[in-house]
Amino acid sequence: MLEIKNLVKKYGMVTAVNNFNLVVKKGSIYGFVGPNGAGKTTTMKIMAGLLPATSGTIRIDGFDVTEQSKLLKQKIGYMPDFFGVYDDLKVMEYMDFYAGTYYIPYKERPALINSLLEIVDLAHKKDAYVDSLSRGMKQRLCLSRSLVHDPDLLILDEPASGLDPRARVEMKEILKQLQTMGKTIIISSHILPELAEICTEIGIIDHGKLAAEGTVQEIMRRLEKNRILQMKPLKHMDKLCQVLQEQPNIVDIMESTDYVEFAFNGTDEEASRLLANIISAEIPILSFKEKEGNLEEIFMRVTGGDEK
Ligand SMILES: Nc1ncnc2c1ncn2[C@@H]1O[C@H](COP(=O)(O)OP(=O)(O)OP(=O)(O)O)[C@@H](O)[C@H]1O
Ligand SMILES: [Mg+2]
Repeated sequence: MLEIKNLVKKYGMVTAVNNFNLVVKKGSIYGFVGPNGAGKTTTMKIMAGLLPATSGTIRIDGFDVTEQSKLLKQKIGYMPDFFGVYDDLKVMEYMDFYAGTYYIPYKERPALINSLLEIVDLAHKKDAYVDSLSRGMKQRLCLSRSLVHDPDLLILDEPASGLDPRARVEMKEILKQLQTMGKTIIISSHILPELAEICTEIGIIDHGKLAAEGTVQEIMRRLEKNRILQMKPLKHMDKLCQVLQEQPNIVDIMESTDYVEFAFNGTDEEASRLLANIISAEIPILSFKEKEGNLEEIFMRVTGGDEK
């Protein structure tokens, strides 16, 4: 769907995007995570054809973003990180204006706009003034506006920033719905755990480069040599700890009231063998799982702090 090769963007002396390479497959929800100034917005604007690159190429469905910008405008929906001021414009008029910029025929517009407002749950606000909407509503309106021409690829720059927890959950639901409608979505955020829940893949961006990439599990696996596993026995906690100490690949064992946590440096196969060994020692196990990783901590480690 999207392929970026050796992308570079310089603003004067500042290199915002530094030899960036990326492939996003059709149907994925790809998350861009990175600290302030990492180059997320710059990369997304270049993808959307709104900013020229210094060098490098971006192809969408095989078409070059700079050479085929008119054609690609139809395929891409872009939601900026900044929402403007719209004095005296009602929600319906605002949507109608954007439908007009994509040459959608007058008679098709009311039904289309109603269905888009329905998706983002703003149908009840269609006669309200845009400036009277709350921030979360404005963000949803902005998302529905990016959908007027039924694009295949959505590029959403921090659609959930500044939203309250409930609105964030709603935004995630909307994105999932859009994915089931067949859209490919690229979304940015500062908050890794937030993206982790909905994204099929994640790219951690730092200083204009892709610092790590993969599914959330893969990123964590690569960054953490020892993963933390948790085992909860039905009974015989002491015996469990004793047997664990005799097993290979176990680095550190920590006992809690009703479960044991330990660092494990083996493969998935070795983990399943471990479980088989415990069970054959006749210790009843209720659950065995990987501890939910502390994503924030990993993120801080990869991006190494300091802003540009
Ligand atoms: N118009 C501009 N002129 C000069 N420098 C710019 C411009 N826009 C961005 N930059 C610089 O490029 C770098 C990347 O900025 P960018 O906005 O792409 O980061 P970001 O990852 O989106 O950050 P944030 O999380 O704050 O949104 C920063 O060092 C920024 O100062
Ligand atoms: Mg940004």
